[in-house]
Amino acid sequence: MSETATSVLAMGLRNAHAMESQALELLERQASRLEEYPEVQAQIQHHLAQTERQLERLERCLDALGEDLSPVKDAALAALGSMMSLSNAMAEDEILKNTFANYSFEHYEIAAYKSLLTLCEIATQRSIVPLLQQSLDEEEAMAKWLKDNVSRVTKDYVTKRERKAAA
Ligand SMILES: [Fe+2]
Repeated sequence: MSETATSVLAMGLRNAHAMESQALELLERQASRLEEYPEVQAQIQHHLAQTERQLERLERCLDALGEDLSPVKDAALAALGSMMSLSNAMAEDEILKNTFANYSFEHYEIAAYKSLLTLCEIATQRSIVPLLQQSLDEEEAMAKWLKDNVSRVTKDYVTKRERKAAA
């Protein structure tokens, strides 16, 4: 049981690394296009820095298990993240679409980290728990920020459109 759980955990860690590579790509694309929304931009940049540390933490977890990464899968998912942002960039309401996409992405990440923490328990790999817990806390904080800011971003968007229409 423990050996199976450890191999499921290793697979989960590799998947999470690919997921965070995709997150990094999504956030990088958005960060450069948010000059009209400085508060959102600051938060995206803050989470971008956290995402870089989350990737490092996952590498440390894999290392602790004696596992290596899957660069091919990472690259494929990062490209997908890039495409997702690109298609939103073509929309007039890019800021709204990105906000919804980020909110859903954060919840995907939260579920992934919760699953990894459960696997640590089953596989009795306690040494990596604090690393994963820290990342989970960051994802939950980001999800909360997005939830708390959907209304404000929507109002800002309408105000800016009204201003443009009046100009
Ligand atoms: Fe995240």
